[in-house]
Amino acid sequence: MSTAPSTDWREEIPADEEERLIRGAETLRDLQRARKRSEKSDRALHAKGIGFSAELTVGADLPEHARIGPFAISGKKYGAYVRFSNGSGKRGSDKRQDVRGMAVKLLGVEGKKLIAGMEDETTQDFLAIATPFTPIRDADEFVTLVRAAETPALLPLKLAWALGLGRTIELVKALTKKPATPFTSFATSRFWSALPIQFGPYAIHFSFVPRAAASADAQAPTTDEGLMDDLVTRLKSGPIAFDLQIQYFVDTQKTPIEDPTVEWKESDSPFITVATLVLGEQDATSAEGIKQSELVEALSFDPWHAVAALRPLGNMMRARNHAYRLSTQERGASKEPR
Ligand code: HEM
Repeated sequence: MSTAPSTDWREEIPADEEERLIRGAETLRDLQRARKRSEKSDRALHAKGIGFSAELTVGADLPEHARIGPFAISGKKYGAYVRFSNGSGKRGSDKRQDVRGMAVKLLGVEGKKLIAGMEDETTQDFLAIATPFTPIRDADEFVTLVRAAETPALLPLKLAWALGLGRTIELVKALTKKPATPFTSFATSRFWSALPIQFGPYAIHFSFVPRAAASADAQAPTTDEGLMDDLVTRLKSGPIAFDLQIQYFVDTQKTPIEDPTVEWKESDSPFITVATLVLGEQDATSAEGIKQSELVEALSFDPWHAVAALRPLGNMMRARNHAYRLSTQERGASKEPR
């Protein structure tokens, strides 16, 4: 894209929204609390994960409209932590079909941060899942679904009660649809923000694109720890790399801010690479590796850990501004690292 992207995006915020978002966040927090087995709660969602250290390098010669916030200086390097996760709020087998997450925390990022009381922190987070959009319409539907999923046998019934039969059939179909290719490794999978963030005067979706392709004989995990073990094994013998790409808002139909069910198609808005993320060779089973993994586990990855130029946008993002804070508080997550 050589010409400057559109700045014509808008958020639409209903007057009674915030109250509902707070109630939704409290519902997720209550589920998290009820699940607590040991002294400490797990994350309300994405309870099972594994963390590593990494480095992000900003691309050289980026176009003017990509030199925003942390990406302003060509070739700049940031230390980072990365956590790969399964979406469920319960730690379960990697063999189960689930949402897969990738969370990245950059260190040493200058500029005032968005969360009140955390303005002088120096971290910038990016959270992504392994699908480019979500079939879930909004935060209310998201919370309804998470609550209903607590008792899988009753899920369709509970959803039908809350959302009506037509919408339940639509949603269950979309959520249980087998992907075209099985999820075989975090290291060879692509991750998307699925929701927009501001990018200076523009709005974007971002995506982490793996440098390595899955081998032709790659298989879905066959053991409970299959996906987590795969990462540990790969990193023992070499690095794992992802390109960080962005695509710009074009117009409200093709690239809506408030409707997360619409995929921002590459044919409407091509991605450009703005940085490269490398998880260097490391041994997660060494004493140092275990310590680092524990450190990452205790961190809070939150889309609102962000500079003002990269503000999260849209209803689901505004919901996350409450939900992550309550989940983080409930489990006593660590302060932001320096
Ligand atoms: C569709 C876009 C979304 C994406 C890409 C996404 C991604 C993620 C990821 C990757 C994690 C794991 C973070 C980590 O490793 O620490 C996470 C955790 C979490 N997500 Fe989301 N999520 C989305 C939507 C939502 C929504 C709409 C809500 C609630 C309204 C929500 C609530 C949470 C909570 C409570 C956690 C646990 C936070 C913690 O204790 O650290 N997410 N999400």
